[in-house]
Amino acid sequence: MKLINLIFVFLAIISLSSCGGSDSKKKLKTDTAVTLSAEDLEKGASLYRAKCMNCHMKSGKGIEKFYPPLADSDYLRENLEESIYMVKFGSNKPIKVNGIKYNSLMPASGLTDKELVLVFNYILNSWGNDYGSISLEQVEAVKRK
Ligand code: HEC
Repeated sequence: MKLINLIFVFLAIISLSSCGGSDSKKKLKTDTAVTLSAEDLEKGASLYRAKCMNCHMKSGKGIEKFYPPLADSDYLRENLEESIYMVKFGSNKPIKVNGIKYNSLMPASGLTDKELVLVFNYILNSWGNDYGSISLEQVEAVKRK
């Protein structure tokens, strides 16, 4: 009986410490100190118009239940790495944005990592979003799982 108790305690400790491990996983953060140049923002805007606007709309508001918003999107703000992954490699898994479920297809953008930096810095800083900026190294680090 005592031994069994000990085993339970041991298992509890293991599961606690593995939880702690995943919690401490570093989340991709934007840099809020960088000032983006007007030129880079314009380049990002033109990539957005060519590659994203059809679905996410000029206003960044998307189309409810089909194409999620980027403007004021809690998903974009809180899941930056996953957002980059989705635009880089495409996505059709169910996600929730501002409390609404989306499960349509976003094809891989086909953009280079440099173009992804420009378009992300545009969407992170448009329509009232003030989500900071990302670097080329951060986009390059997002690799196919
Ligand atoms: C064909 C329509 C389509 C195009 C074009 C498109 N998207 Fe999406 N996007 C979607 C859909 C649909 C989802 C949700 C995907 C899912 O459910 O897995 C999404 C999700 C996202 C998300 C994460 C969710 C959110 O709203 O914050 C981001 C960020 C995003 N797209 C950015 C972009 C960017 C940047 C481009 C242009 C390079 C782009 N998308 C082009 C349809 C599109």
